[in-house]
Parts: sequence; structure tokens; C-alpha cells
Amino acid sequence: MNTHQKVLIIDFGGQTAMLIARRVREQHVYSEIKPYTITPAEIKNIDPIGIILSGGPSFVTDKDAPALDPAIYKLGIPILGICYGCQLMSYQLGGKVEKMAHREYGKIDLQLNQKGSDSQIFADVSVQSICWMSHTSSVTQLPEGFVTLAATPDCPTAAFANESKKLYGVQFHPEVTHTQFGVQILGNFLTRVCAAAGDWQMSAIASEIIADLRAKIGDKRVLCAMSGGVDSSVTALLLHRAVEERLTAVFLDHGLLRQDEAAEVIETFTQNTPINLIAVDYSTQFLSALSGVTDPEAKRKIIGREFVRAFEIEAKKIGHVDFLAQGTIYPDVIESGTKTAAKIKSHHNVGGLPDVIDFEDIVEPLRALFKDEVHALGLELGLPEKLVYRQPFPGPGLAIRIIGEVTAEKLAILRPADAIFREEIIAAGLHQKVSQYFAVLTNMKTVGVMGDERTYEYLLGLRAVETTDFMTADWADLPHDLLARVSSRIVNEVPHINRVVYEITSKPPSTIEWE
Ligand code: XMP
Repeated sequence: MNTHQKVLIIDFGGQTAMLIARRVREQHVYSEIKPYTITPAEIKNIDPIGIILSGGPSFVTDKDAPALDPAIYKLGIPILGICYGCQLMSYQLGGKVEKMAHREYGKIDLQLNQKGSDSQIFADVSVQSICWMSHTSSVTQLPEGFVTLAATPDCPTAAFANESKKLYGVQFHPEVTHTQFGVQILGNFLTRVCAAAGDWQMSAIASEIIADLRAKIGDKRVLCAMSGGVDSSVTALLLHRAVEERLTAVFLDHGLLRQDEAAEVIETFTQNTPINLIAVDYSTQFLSALSGVTDPEAKRKIIGREFVRAFEIEAKKIGHVDFLAQGTIYPDVIESGTKTAAKIKSHHNVGGLPDVIDFEDIVEPLRALFKDEVHALGLELGLPEKLVYRQPFPGPGLAIRIIGEVTAEKLAILRPADAIFREEIIAAGLHQKVSQYFAVLTNMKTVGVMGDERTYEYLLGLRAVETTDFMTADWADLPHDLLARVSSRIVNEVPHINRVVYEITSKPPSTIEWE
């Protein structure tokens, strides 16, 4: 991947950096996000063709406001500052930034002046257009050598530049789709200012990743833990292309999977891919380890521990393995690298394995890719759509969708109920629109009446959310007739459920899973 032209996105907080990185990649230019603490030496080492400074929630003169090493402005690399990024560049180069009387927010009219119309950054952009703004402070005096390119009714310096130094600032957000010429403006910066070739392709990435894997693994052996999810599936496919039979893919059935899931994953893989998948059944071990445990965190920890234990046993059976492969993707890397978020839940994945199993190293071939890029790569590698667009399923599985103790009986109640809900969502054609949907077996029994009989059975919760990043989510406003059908099918077809509720909480304050 080192041979590609790169654009660096420098992150000043907020959600914008990731979106900018995606927009750049959509224009076939490889991009990477780095924290604002990056040094000039590190930048020189990366050798980017351009730098984009992201937006952020701070005010430039605040005591702890994030700032750049000013030497970065002198590296001779083109820079585009967006929102906070443009204010910071202006401030650090001697301009003035002040709080505004009113916040400027939403779709706003942008007017180019003559210099704007002549500028590379606004090539093929109309003199009047709509931009998207969200700011409470603005640049009130430009640094020496800079000229104004565009204004809005409340922001006289909505865009400015020092063309000879290739430094550009825009107060609005070109990365947001509401900015009419946002794609064009970013494209102008990339191709006209940074001279990007725009030749970064997913197909090139596939062959580069495979070549990198071959170089790294050589004639050694690699183990890939498969969950049946898209990330681990694509990882396994890439590894198979790289080292063929020196890959061992292991699918561990912990007994907490959905209805028919283990069989489906195995069948899909054997039928659609050349990968030799070993499936191992540890359901008895997991269930007995969970016996009597009701605390959500305790359940997660036990499952993590049992997972490691099962893998140790399997690794020994396989014999010596040199590398462990993981399906880590770019947002995972960014999350763990730049944020110090409070622990809400002990998310479990194979990340815990290297501590206990003696591998030479870890390989993470998807480290640089976004989820939708992994999807594209999966399709290109021939993975069936059904698998590529599978909704996420948590490592601890149904154990965190059964409130209270997990038992074989409760699993037998939850599985068919969850299957009905999923079946009806798919039948209604909503499975691409709704990001995640599942049933939860509460630990509560309520009174009902069936026929002439009193019943005292379980309350089932249904959860469906729409989200792009799974960090925040809205509850999905499912059609009432769909909910009615699901509810009636579940109480009629699944014994021991006599009441169904639909969850209407977003994340935050709730989380997607109930435990
Ligand atoms: P929460 O419940 O934290 O879930 O809002 C966010 C997303 O993460 C998934 N999730 C997990 N995935 N191991 C995983 O691999 C876990 O332990 C885990 N817990 C939650 C959840 O399904 C949702 O997509």
C-alpha cells in the first residue's frame, strides 16, 4: 500500500474526520486519519500529497484547544482546513478568529467573489451555491498573504486561500452531502491542488493486500478465527488467496448462535469458497460455564475466557501456527487509537487471543479499510451478497440477548422467536434498510390468556435500529402491520412467550444490545 499517493486527514475531534477520509477515498485517492499531535517529521515520513484539517468542537483560543505544530504549515504540502481546521490554520498563521453573535447552521447561500471564481479550489463551482455550515466562531482577519474567496450572509470569510503556498480554508463542510458542490471542491483540492492521480482502486487493494500477506507470512502457517461475519470472512478469503492451504480457518460454535446459524455458515463457506473451514462444537462447555450466572459483565467475561480456552485446545490440535489473523477494520483502529472512552461493555472478539497463544505475530489485512470498502472487497472476492451484507452479530451471541441466566431451555425459546422476526423483516424487504434487528428474551414472566386458559409465560422484546456507525443508533420505525404480524406469529408459534414488546429507545441513552 506504500506505493499509493496518500492524503492525510488530521483529526481535531468530532465526527467529521472519518467522513472526510471516506469522501477522499471515494475520489480514488487513498487517505489516512492521524491525530493533531502528529509531528512534522512523521508527516515527512508518510510523504502525503496533501493534508486536510478536520472540523472539531473547540474554539482556537481556548486553553486546551487542539493545535498543530506550526512547522507543518511550512512543509510545502498543500493544506485544506475545514471549519475548525480553517480557523486554526488562520489563527496559527497570524489571523484572527472571533465568536459570532449568532450560530450559523444548516444550508446557507455561498457566494464566490472574483478571486474565488478564479481559484483552483472552486473550478467548475457556480458563483452562487448552497453550502452546509455549523459554526459559532469565524475568521475575522486573514493572515498575511491570504485572500477571501467566498462569503455567506453571516460569514464574510467563508473561504480563503494563499494560492502560492497552496493553503486553503473553508468554513463550511464540503464533506457533507448538503454542500451542493462539496464533491467538486474536495476533488479540485485533490486533483488540481495536490495533483492526485485518482487511481486508487479496490481491485488494486486486493492484489496489494494479497502480495503483502504473501511477503509477511512466507511459507509459515496462519490461523484465522471465523465468526461468519463479513470482516472475518473477507480476511479468510484474502489469506486463502495468499497462502492457500497454509491457512487454517476455525469456526467455533459456542452454542449461543442463532437458529441454524452454524450449519448455514459452514454450508455457505464450503459451497462458495475454497477455504477449508474446521467447525468445532463447544456448546456444552460454554453453557455449563454460564450456568447460574446472571450478571451481564460476568457473562461476557466468561464467554471471552471460554473462547480463549477453546482456541488453545484447537491450536494445539492444529500444531504449530505462526500467525493469527484478525478482521480488524479501520474504524476499530481509530476507535482504540484516538479515544479514551469509558468502558460501557467488555466487547469481546479474538483480540484477547495473542496473550495466551504463542503466535509469532498478528496479521490484520483489513486494517486500512472502512466497512463499505470491506463489503466491496468481499463482493470482488466472490463472497455471496447474503454473507457480505449480513447484519452484525455480537461475539457473546444470544447470551447477551437472554436477560438473566442462560439456559438451553431459554435458548430454545429465543431462537425460533428471533428467526420469525428476521424472516418477516426480510419478507418485508427491510433487511437492507434496518441495520440490526433481533429478539431479546427478558427474564420476566407475565400473565396472559390463551384459549380459555391463564398463561404465565415470558415477555419477549424486539429491537431494530438504524445506524451507520453503531456508535449511535435510532430505533427503527417499523410498519405497524409488520410488527403486528411478527407479534402474532411469535405468540402463536413459539411456546412459552405470551407477550411481545417493541423497543423505542435510541442509543444513547440506551445501547443496541440489552446487556
Ligand atoms: P452496543 O450494545 O454496545 O452494540 O450498542 C454496538 C454494536 O456492537 C455489537 N456488539 C458486539 N460485537 N462483540 C462483538 O463483536 C461484543 O461483545 C459485542 N457487544 C455488542 C452490537 O451487536 C452492535 O452491533
